[in-house]
Amino acid sequence: MSELNSNEPRLVLMIDDDPLQIEFGRTLAARAGYRFAAAEGGRAGLRAAHEARPDVILLDYLMPDLTGKQVFEELLRSADRRVRHTPVIMLTAQSANREEQRRLLDAGLAAYLYKPFGYHELLNVIDNVLVFAQTRERNRQLERQARQSFVATARTLVTLLFAKDPCTAEHSNMTADLAEAVALTCGLAEQDAMTVKLGALLHDVGKIGVPEHVLCKPGKLTCDEMAIMRLHVEYGDEALSGVPYMETVREMVKYHHEWWDGCGYPFNLRGEEIPFGARLVSVVDAFDSMTSDRPYRNSLPLAEAHRRLRAGAGTQFDPALVEALVETLGKFEPRRGRSLDLQFLEELSPVV
Ligand SMILES: [Fe+2]
Repeated sequence: MSELNSNEPRLVLMIDDDPLQIEFGRTLAARAGYRFAAAEGGRAGLRAAHEARPDVILLDYLMPDLTGKQVFEELLRSADRRVRHTPVIMLTAQSANREEQRRLLDAGLAAYLYKPFGYHELLNVIDNVLVFAQTRERNRQLERQARQSFVATARTLVTLLFAKDPCTAEHSNMTADLAEAVALTCGLAEQDAMTVKLGALLHDVGKIGVPEHVLCKPGKLTCDEMAIMRLHVEYGDEALSGVPYMETVREMVKYHHEWWDGCGYPFNLRGEEIPFGARLVSVVDAFDSMTSDRPYRNSLPLAEAHRRLRAGAGTQFDPALVEALVETLGKFEPRRGRSLDLQFLEELSPVV
């Protein structure tokens, strides 16, 4: 496929078993200023699509070795991304199966052209399809850039947070692994569970903005210091505002200190007003805090942490998520001291 801004004439590949039809296509392409390649039959056409990398394919529906439908489906399965995305115009009889035509259009077929067609008709369809394909390719590029920016931002924020406070780093790492496991227990799809994992990893990202004498104080916080510490929710919310694809993660950051009974902060949301991811992070966050050593206290025994979780079900926590966490802990072994692994970000298709 020609590069987006290339001035080289576009290459049209015609796949047809009829040599007369191919000659017709060649003449029209030459008159319109397109480059032209042809393949006689479906199998030859598939080879040519991979070798020539055309900008558009004119594909005959009725061919003896493979039908146009089969060729199109093979193109969609190609390991070559450019081949998969080459726009295909199906040349077919007016009487063709309408339902199948709709299915192929849904699958990504660019257009149908009914035989017999003339010069202007063919040219019109090719021109329109090429403009559409160019717009679509540009959108794909923008999406790729936004995705790269999302991954880079997530990496930067995690790195900054972990550099600021090793204690928060260890806690966030643990919370992330456990939150992902609980999300899977709750039946979330893998991609959604990974989003929860990222939300859990970043839930305290606003602590970057909390002064160190408060953040790392080795004793109980005063009321004033507590008020400063609570601002981490707002700092985190601000840090993520406007970052592409971060809206779901931002909700977990913003609402992870809300309580099921409405007594949390900063908005006193209650029950299902609190987004699911934030409710999930809240319960896992509390569990990990209880079961890890802090400068001012030792960790609680596991049985006591379970008791406190259950005691908080319906007040601090979503009762269903307390049960999901307990169930997850029965099969999931939290591993402390594990180094941070952000590889999952590459697999994550971020959802707005
Ligand atoms: Fe927090």
